[in-house]
Amino acid sequence: MKILVFGSLNIDLTFSVDHIVAPGETIDSTSMTRSAGGKGANQAAALAKAGMPVYMAGKIGQDGQFLLDLLQSYGVNTERVVKYDGATGQAIIQLDSNKQNAIVLYSGGNSAISINEIHQTIAEFDTGDLIVLQNEIVHVREIMECAKKGGLRICLNPSPCNKKIMDLPLNLVDILFVNEIEGTSLAGLPPDSHLPLVLNHLVERFPQGEIILTAGKDGAYYGFGKQRAKGDIVNLPVADTTGAGDTFTGYFIAAREKKMSVPQALAIACRASSIAVSRKGAMESIPFGEEVFN
Ligand code: RIB
Repeated sequence: MKILVFGSLNIDLTFSVDHIVAPGETIDSTSMTRSAGGKGANQAAALAKAGMPVYMAGKIGQDGQFLLDLLQSYGVNTERVVKYDGATGQAIIQLDSNKQNAIVLYSGGNSAISINEIHQTIAEFDTGDLIVLQNEIVHVREIMECAKKGGLRICLNPSPCNKKIMDLPLNLVDILFVNEIEGTSLAGLPPDSHLPLVLNHLVERFPQGEIILTAGKDGAYYGFGKQRAKGDIVNLPVADTTGAGDTFTGYFIAAREKKMSVPQALAIACRASSIAVSRKGAMESIPFGEEVFN
């Protein structure tokens, strides 16, 4: 069984600020870091750090070589990441004194992936392999349809939440990871709805897929058929929440592929993301398996 993450690779520029800048305002930052990120690359890193065999596909410019070097150092196979004559995706991240963030994306290579590259990549994978997708690259619908035709199981984390997710064939998804905002919007419920209710609506609406609803400090909820489970976070000081959801996704998938039960997988994923939140950065904050599984 192989795992293919077809997703975004970004250069994260993180500015530490007192507060998130308001319209028309100019503020100073106290530090700036340039580090590896992108939801796809972060999830590939989490899976690899959790000990899974992972293949990453996506597109970067020459400026993104350090992302490949880092992913390779974690054991991710990056042969299917194509280089093109343009910029790598960029994320401008403001991290405020309450450790809340606000992110502006420039898609770069993430929007330069071609349909041909999608077909070529997916053809290299077999029935029963797993594909992990997010909503930060182009042609996600085409990738899902092509993957389903090839017999791959589909895990989708439709982040970031925007109008595009309404056009995705969510009936093809085997494991759906959503946060409160994405989940509530897909369930067609008003903001701040009770999360167990949101989960029930999602299970009813997408009965073919396992649903994982992540809820920040409130942990995560699982639903499939009549089965329900809940995982709780580990209380650690918060340094930076960037990449917490990606860490959760990677570790939940890894734990399930290691045949752990749903409650065990939720506990593992919650522990991994709690550790990630206690450290600065995205990809580099993701813990290794020995810190999480022991
Ligand atoms: O999920 C965190 C990621 O979102 C960051 O690494 C940034 O690149 C944005 O894509």
